Amino acid sequence: MGSSYQRKQNKAISNEIVWHDSAVTYTDRIALKQQKPVVLWFTGLSGSGKSTVANAVEMKLLQLGKHSYLLDGDNVRHGLNQDLGFSDTDRAENIRRIGEVAKLFVDSGSIVLTAFISPFISDRKQVRELVEDGQFLEVFVDTPLEICEQRDPKGLYKKARSGEIKHFTGIDSEYQAPVSAEIHLTTEGKSIDECAEHVIYTLEYLGYFDIEGEGA
Ligand code: ADX
Repeated sequence: MGSSYQRKQNKAISNEIVWHDSAVTYTDRIALKQQKPVVLWFTGLSGSGKSTVANAVEMKLLQLGKHSYLLDGDNVRHGLNQDLGFSDTDRAENIRRIGEVAKLFVDSGSIVLTAFISPFISDRKQVRELVEDGQFLEVFVDTPLEICEQRDPKGLYKKARSGEIKHFTGIDSEYQAPVSAEIHLTTEGKSIDECAEHVIYTLEYLGYFDIEGEGA
């Protein structure tokens, strides 16, 4: 069957770049890991709780013996994407690169968690289309702007309000909320653990932990 990665790479990029098949296949890797790889794409405002909930979900996955990796906005911007700022174009490129990295992790057989504001519907859609059906679940961390601003864990909303930071999401840069996220977490009044449980329950319910009889 080949790799999940390869199956979506049918477009010839150039005559000089040729796809190499790997000896160990996607099917081999998921058989070893006993799970269905998926991208859990957390989106929401800065301070909404994306990283916190994603971390809690990853801890639960570990306890369940699942193989995972968390890509976090602030961390990735320290390395791979350190050349990018917060213009609309740079944010789109940020998400495009993360999408490509997430896809490689899916091909490795992992459950990938990503925590990026990813404010634009079109960018998130592009990542969804990069992977196979069922390999992308959007997780909307729905925390009202007022609450994120009250929390202001990094003091960035204050700076944005005073004009010290420009193009800050929710202040002078748009956030386009998902219209039909697979998982919608309204965080107000809920604990981190409750939110994380909701994600784990949904994965279980949708059969991501059960690969019996599946070609995955
Ligand atoms: S995204 O819009 O491109 O998806 P990303 O999730 O990588 O953003 O990075 C967001 C983090 O960068 C925020 O949590 C915040 O700590 C920091 N940040 C710095 N400047 C901005 C800004 N102008 N808008 C949003 N976040 C910013």
